[in-house]
Amino acid sequence: MLVNFYSFGRMLRLSWRPYLLVLFFLCLADHLHTSDVTVGTNELVYNGFSDDLNLDGEALWIDDLLSLTNGPGGTSGHALYSSPLSFQNHPGGPISSFSTTFVFVIGFKQYKGNGLAFILSSTNYLPDNSPGQYLSLPHFNSDRHVFFAVEFDTVLNPEIGDINDNHVGIDVDSLVSVESQTAGFYDDNNGEFQTVPLRHGNRVQAWVDYNSSSHQLNVTLAPCCISKPQLPLLSTTVNLSSLLSRGPVYAGFSASSRKVSSSHYVLGWSLKLDGVAQPLDYSVLPFGTVDKLRHRSKYQIPSYMIILGVPSIVPAVILIVLAVLICRYLRKARDDDEWEIKCGMPSFTYKDLVTATEGFSDKMILGKGGFGRVYKGVLPTTTQHVAIKRVSPESKQGKKEFMAEIAILGHVRHRNLVQLLGYCHYKHELLLVYDHMPNGSLDRYLYDKNTPTLDWAQRLRIIKAVASGLFYLHEDWEQVIIHRDIKASNVLLDDDMNGRLGDFGLARLHDHGADAHTTRVAGTCGYIAPELARLGKATKATDVYAFGVFTIEVVCGKRPIGSANTSGDLLALVDWVRNTWQGGSIVDAVDPELKDYKADEVELVLKLGLLCSHSLSKLRPCMRLVMLYLEGGARLAHFHPAFLLTHGHEDEQNCQALCTSSATTMTILSQGR
Ligand SMILES: *[C@@H]1O[C@H](CO)[C@@H](O)[C@H](O)[C@H]1NC(C)=O
Ligand SMILES: *[C@@H]1O[C@H](CO)[C@@H](O)[C@H](O)[C@H]1NC(C)=O
Ligand SMILES: *[C@@H]1O[C@H](CO)[C@@H](O)[C@H](O)[C@H]1NC(C)=O
Repeated sequence: MLVNFYSFGRMLRLSWRPYLLVLFFLCLADHLHTSDVTVGTNELVYNGFSDDLNLDGEALWIDDLLSLTNGPGGTSGHALYSSPLSFQNHPGGPISSFSTTFVFVIGFKQYKGNGLAFILSSTNYLPDNSPGQYLSLPHFNSDRHVFFAVEFDTVLNPEIGDINDNHVGIDVDSLVSVESQTAGFYDDNNGEFQTVPLRHGNRVQAWVDYNSSSHQLNVTLAPCCISKPQLPLLSTTVNLSSLLSRGPVYAGFSASSRKVSSSHYVLGWSLKLDGVAQPLDYSVLPFGTVDKLRHRSKYQIPSYMIILGVPSIVPAVILIVLAVLICRYLRKARDDDEWEIKCGMPSFTYKDLVTATEGFSDKMILGKGGFGRVYKGVLPTTTQHVAIKRVSPESKQGKKEFMAEIAILGHVRHRNLVQLLGYCHYKHELLLVYDHMPNGSLDRYLYDKNTPTLDWAQRLRIIKAVASGLFYLHEDWEQVIIHRDIKASNVLLDDDMNGRLGDFGLARLHDHGADAHTTRVAGTCGYIAPELARLGKATKATDVYAFGVFTIEVVCGKRPIGSANTSGDLLALVDWVRNTWQGGSIVDAVDPELKDYKADEVELVLKLGLLCSHSLSKLRPCMRLVMLYLEGGARLAHFHPAFLLTHGHEDEQNCQALCTSSATTMTILSQGR
């Protein structure tokens, strides 16, 4: 974890430093806990993975689990650390030794898996055409590429010298192992050899140590998670000098399967040049994700069942019903297994969703959004109430990237975001299943005369909730997610009238891969930042703009664009509020329906809304700062309405400084990603 002390120091000088420090350390602690990678020049440590590996073939992320293959046979996958390692600083100089350890899981019942290899390669292009017994490594020595691999092989292939179907082999430039041995370890206490079955979903840890001066290579194996056995399983001399000295060396993993459906997962990896690889932190390795994939019963026990189960009289009836439900669920889910596993999120069958929505009947329509219709429904298996969005993606991207995108959305979890529960891919349609928000969308409460209006406390709470959801998407989650369509109708209210932001990330599904010049700007009129309309590029700042408009909308109870002046011309709400402020008090802009409001809060929120929707993107605060303003952690500096039209202000620097420093903080933290 590299910490940039320069920006850290700058943060300290800011007046709201206590809050920032707390935030900073909370974030730091959080990131250290979920813990990813430390990258120095010669060391990397992943306790669970982040995205600075290059994946190809079938490899993909399932949360922070690295899945090399996970599906039908005949596939292969690779993951290489994105920057090459340098084992020799200058020609003729000493060559670094290395030490590495990793934890992996191969195969479950239906997903058998053939084998996995740790590789060092002089090329980062690994063939995709050698699945099966070749572990997807360059198996013809005709090309000049040189590689070194330690294979964990579960296929018996006598023609290349395999000794049994559960062996560890050392390969240099060829898949004919230089040395191989039945997978196992020598017990530290009695020296007895114990076999370690590589397959069957066992957690296995391996260590590979190479001394570049003695050319000694040791491979040690053990079931995870016991300490490293003293005696290596394999100890041999191999001269890796020509590989390690010829230039950049790519390190990573490769796996393949021939016929059977296979799964190969790597959970953690640590490597160090010229030293001992840092031990892995078993407590944070994604074993949970593997277990989930193994059981593949994404069936969530409804909370009422848990409540019923708490008293010690656990009625057998419930268990039986539960078992029946689970079986039914599993049977239904089987067809979609493949994708379900890839997404790490349940897929629903089309039939279930048809039943849930009474055949997508018009009376079940909740609304029509930019991306398609939204239906309410009751899942037949669990009787859970859900909202089902029918999207027809116009995307050019392949199914795999598309599902990867959905998988990301499925893993985004925050109390102020509408949870994506699952999906169904049917022909050219995509159905997204969300938590149902019984109280509908916020715009109804603002504009529908038949719906009781919200009081000030409720509105402020909703604004804070949306800010917190957006902050999470921008800065707190693993990847930056630009929402692209923040507006009152995308804010939904749960049972307790808490605001939750919906539809995040969907816009990206739509215009992903399309030519930036021809893509229509995703977003809704009145919420589109000037530079977004001009350049068509959605950024965090364009989200902040829309958030600003939204904030003002909620306080004023007026649509972002409306005829507000006497001559009936269209006027942007933002301009109207600014005019109101210039003409007297900004509090005058408050929704006339509101009675019990606190003037200072209204003033703060309106000014913040105006600042967020400043026409110059660099003058808009980042969401971190917005949160601080709303929670009272930082004071919004005084500014004049004219500032919203002019371009220079002393505050600019402050704001910039904080945003940059928090951006830097995030860079520091996200190096862990
Ligand atoms: C390999 O194992 C042997 C026996 O434990 C040990 O003496 C040697 O130092 C090890 N070599 C490396 C490179 O770790
Ligand atoms: C590597 O091997 C050399 C020569 O045998 C030995 O002197 C050195 O201590 C070894 N280094 C390590 C880290 O084991
Ligand atoms: C190892 O390989 C390098 C490069 O091919 C060669 O120069 C060196 O002599 C070899 N060392 C031994 C001990 O074989």
